[in-house]
Amino acid sequence: MILVTGATGLSGSAIVQEFARQGAPVRALFRSPDKARPLHGLANVELVEGDMLRPASLTKALHGVDRVLMISSAEKRMVETQCAFIDAAKAAGVPHIVKLSGKESGVGFDPAKFQGTREHVEIERYLEASGLAWTHLRPSQFMHRYLPGALTGVDASRRELRLPIGDIRLAPVDIEDIAKVAVALMRSDGHEGRAYDMTGPQALTMTEVVEHISKATETAFRYVNVSLEDKLREFKEMGVPDAFAQIIEEQLVERSRHPESHVRTEVHDTFGVRPTPFAEFARRHAKAFLGQ
Ligand SMILES: NC(=O)c1ccc[n+]([C@@H]2O[C@H](COP(=O)([O-])OP(=O)(O)OC[C@H]3O[C@@H](n4cnc5c(N)ncnc54)[C@H](OP(=O)(O)O)[C@@H]3O)[C@@H](O)[C@H]2O)c1
Repeated sequence: MILVTGATGLSGSAIVQEFARQGAPVRALFRSPDKARPLHGLANVELVEGDMLRPASLTKALHGVDRVLMISSAEKRMVETQCAFIDAAKAAGVPHIVKLSGKESGVGFDPAKFQGTREHVEIERYLEASGLAWTHLRPSQFMHRYLPGALTGVDASRRELRLPIGDIRLAPVDIEDIAKVAVALMRSDGHEGRAYDMTGPQALTMTEVVEHISKATETAFRYVNVSLEDKLREFKEMGVPDAFAQIIEEQLVERSRHPESHVRTEVHDTFGVRPTPFAEFARRHAKAFLGQ
């Protein structure tokens, strides 16, 4: 049996839906019955409630599991959550954990300078030392991060992408690609002790990102290279908690130091997945970019 945690989240729900689309049986862990509602009725998907921070709540979820795809939120308890889950999975006799990790595409980006990747590195090390078989799947920035509502996304009402990162290049990846790769990886053998880094197929400047959004929506969007101070002020006005704004600030500053990005689509090739270009993502989400 395959277990996917974080099944109600952005990446987890796409992955569970991809299992269902392929007709492959999967168990999906959720902690909020309300958020799990959209997953009801998916073919071959067994929904099980549990909290990764409470090992006693995971007995049913971990029973008879051969491989776990471990996902949880990028928030202040991510290390504690995933390390507690690794311990619980080990105690339950699960042989193999695949960690949905993360890796910046920026050439020279220092993971020690951004809390998100720093924490993924810490969890990867904990998993590697656990004695369990491990695999790390490390996507770059999700293309979803440009949608309205994301902290680094467009402002749909102003038709602007407002970021303090000049015209650096990033190579974002489509979550649908991650889902297809994750399902192929989980359903095949021979990935123990491997780390798979993946990005989207193009390294794009923010001006190019906005050109794709404008074309897809047939509406003029523009990139505004705001100062870091202005961006932090906007976060405050939006009510973003200081600790979270600080994490995003770290990421934006470190990204600015490294204007070029790798394009890594070998993992797409390995698993037979066509890399989705940003233009196609923008067409698929045209209404969302317009705030509809
Ligand atoms: N955003 C990016 O650009 C990017 C790029 C590369 C890698 N990543 C990494 O990808 C991972 C997943 O990101 P995402 O955007 O898909 O996350 P997300 O939308 O926040 O979803 C996280 C999921 O984990 C669940 N969860 C959190 N704590 C839990 C707990 N204690 N017990 C059970 N379930 C728990 C959440 O449940 P609830 O719904 O109940 O909260 C939710 O289903 C993160 O580690 C992130 O760092 C992100």
